[in-house]
Amino acid sequence: MSSDALPTPHVAVIVVAAGSGTRLAAGAPKAFVGIDAHSILHHALERVFAGPLAQVVIVAPPERLGDALTEAHAVAGRRHDLVGVVPGGDTRQESVAAGLRAVWPGVQYVLVHDAARALTPPAVFTRVVAALEAGNDAALPVMPVVDTVKRVDAARVVAALDRSELAAAQTPQGFRRAVLDAAYATAEADHTDDAALVQSAGHEVATVPGDDLAFKITTSADLDRARALLAVAVTPVVPLPRVGVGTDVHAFGGDGALWLAGLEWPGEKALSGHSDGDAVAHAIVDALLAAAGLGDIGTRFGTDQPEYAGAHAVAFLERTRELVTAAGFAIGNVSVQVQSNRPKLAPRRGEAEAALTAALGAPVTVSATTTDGLGFTGTGDGVAAFAVALVVPRPA
Ligand code: CTP
Ligand code: MG
Repeated sequence: MSSDALPTPHVAVIVVAAGSGTRLAAGAPKAFVGIDAHSILHHALERVFAGPLAQVVIVAPPERLGDALTEAHAVAGRRHDLVGVVPGGDTRQESVAAGLRAVWPGVQYVLVHDAARALTPPAVFTRVVAALEAGNDAALPVMPVVDTVKRVDAARVVAALDRSELAAAQTPQGFRRAVLDAAYATAEADHTDDAALVQSAGHEVATVPGDDLAFKITTSADLDRARALLAVAVTPVVPLPRVGVGTDVHAFGGDGALWLAGLEWPGEKALSGHSDGDAVAHAIVDALLAAAGLGDIGTRFGTDQPEYAGAHAVAFLERTRELVTAAGFAIGNVSVQVQSNRPKLAPRRGEAEAALTAALGAPVTVSATTTDGLGFTGTGDGVAAFAVALVVPRPA
């Protein structure tokens, strides 16, 4: 036994899934009909495996044993060694009996569960096991009856029944293993559930609270209900991406070399500014901060932050990436356009995009245009840049 092997469980869950589903009439054995992307059996097993540690015996139609095992292994996780599949019989009771024969020797408590009660919460399993561990021979999850119930004889009401004395039985139904074995060994009549069989063998059956979600999928209306419940419960609220826009302008007239779009441009006139005057980088920073709702470049990298005096694009962009990430976003992409006569960007576009992309860890595309001699960019007094950024909320 490997060191991470699970302890041998003292509980077994028999999941009966061998029925044909005549009333559902979905063209396949009921347990293999899809609720959403997953089958009734898959959903039932997910909740079984989320409950108390147990051997899990799936009782499947003889021609579906392989499919049942595939479903089991898809959801069992660390518990995959605890699962087995056996073929069922013509009646539910025969199917349970087949499952019971596959229960391991050390098991003390056996729960019998209808795969058709696919959405039964794991807490119901926990309650049933707790009732058995408290010393009960049998434990049955029940729900109050909401309708007034009558005893009828064909078209005539024979008696009104007191609703407060009635309860609707669900599964998983739990039993001391010896009690269930003995009741099955001596069963004569066919019973609709195991609690009835055990009670007819003379045992007391304790009740525990059931759950609305443990309803049995019998008809197509039940299947629709399960689908609606799952659609609400599992569809994540898709967080929308967010966009931001940023612009920046710098005048020519700085000292030293020109820095633009993350590159040094030897022989070109420098731009003036608190940092290196890289209008492209600054427009990108503003667009990203705006998209993430983090203010703007003035509030994050203003003159009160002397460490950014003379800093180049990479330092700004890397810090911006940290801020955006810390705010819960991933950067989708950035598109930036430069308006100026010089430098000619096209020959170094790839280099610029690579430098900016590396600093942000997300694609940055750079385009450039002149303004037909108009405005300060047209007269060559300065450079303008416009950026749009997309950020995507990271899943919680
Ligand atoms: N069941 C079983 N073996 C049978 C009959 C039923 O394992 N011979 C299982 C079903 O797969 C289901 C549970 O017992 O999970 C409850 O039965 P029911 O809802 O009646 O399912 P079906 O018998 O498949 O449906 P129908 O009666 O409409 O044919
Ligand atoms: Mg049936």
